[in-house]
Amino acid sequence: APTPLVDRYGRVHTDLRVSLTDRCNLRCTYCMPAEGLAWLPKAEVLTDDEIVRLADIAVHRLGIRTVRLTGGEPLLRRGLPGLIARLADLGPELSLTTNGIGLARTATELRAAGLRRVNVSLDTLRPERYAEITRRDRIADVFAGLAAAKAAGLDPVKINAVPVRGVNDDEILDLVEFAATHGYRMRFIESMPLDAQGAWDRDRMVTADELLGILGARWDLVPVGRHGNAPAEEWRIAGTDTVVGVIASVTRPFCGGCDRVRLTADGQLRNCLFATRESDLRALLRGGADDDRIERAWRDTIARKGPGHDISSADFVQPARPMSAIGG
Ligand code: GTP
Ligand code: 5AD
Ligand code: SF4
Repeated sequence: APTPLVDRYGRVHTDLRVSLTDRCNLRCTYCMPAEGLAWLPKAEVLTDDEIVRLADIAVHRLGIRTVRLTGGEPLLRRGLPGLIARLADLGPELSLTTNGIGLARTATELRAAGLRRVNVSLDTLRPERYAEITRRDRIADVFAGLAAAKAAGLDPVKINAVPVRGVNDDEILDLVEFAATHGYRMRFIESMPLDAQGAWDRDRMVTADELLGILGARWDLVPVGRHGNAPAEEWRIAGTDTVVGVIASVTRPFCGGCDRVRLTADGQLRNCLFATRESDLRALLRGGADDDRIERAWRDTIARKGPGHDISSADFVQPARPMSAIGG
């Protein structure tokens, strides 16, 4: 049996987020510049065999039980169904976070390969606004992708929106109604200082309190709480089965219950979304390290995990690696 991956604060790590690529087919303004970023050369990106080897160690030696595939945009990875099938064979519950473009084509195949659920990013329902936020005119693909995910039996299908003041904060109620109508689960995320441009502006972030004010003025909200250590806190609209989630990383940090560890597309292990130090598992893999050595590096990384982020402190330093290269 695996020995749990426990840190100095007693937090047990059972969730692994694996970024499959740093590339993306959108250029969300709150994430990256119009010209994109300096993408990783292919040789630096972990191969399927390397990812499967690390996931095997994570599941069988370290007690990882859930694996989330992220990006960039993970659907851009070639051969994704094959990789999903191999990861599913290891046993963890598999989920994916995507911008939804490409899901219409692949949802059924991904479900058949062993994917269980998807979270789809969608910040607006309006085509022109979508094109402004993402700099690409692709909203129809996202709607088709959401519908295909649901039809394929990926369950639940969650929608992630990052409300930004003056950009899409007038659509909060519309997004909830859209999700409820189609059977998706809506979540709102406080924007975090993780953009590639370093242009995060706290005053443009819509806080959990504001969101709950907007939702509460329209509906009676019944608190549901959190699923385990999940970042999202949920509320149910009274008299319905509609649930709305809020991920309040900035104003209501949930680091005390964090159970996550992250692997970047280039094989660097991160003990926190906001970590400023990484551990080079790719160098170990390619240097011929055995499983014991990799397990030790992994435990050492978790052993130096800090208590949590300090976004609200004056000494906060944004990590060098942007959100799109970490995977959220
Ligand atoms: P499930 O709870 O399994 O549905 O997934 P999730 O909500 O954790 O994953 P998703 O990829 O959909 O992420 C939604 C938002 O939560 C993104 O903005 C992530 O960056 C953020 N998030 C995920 N994990 C963490 C975390 O450990 N810390 C913080 N602060 N934010 C996180
Ligand atoms: N802060 C919070 N969430 C973000 N996302 C992208 N950039 C940020 C940010 N700076 C969201 C995406 C996606 C999820 C993985 O992270 O919209 O839904
Ligand atoms: Fe947008 Fe996500 Fe792509 Fe960034 S990584 S540009 S948030 S879809």
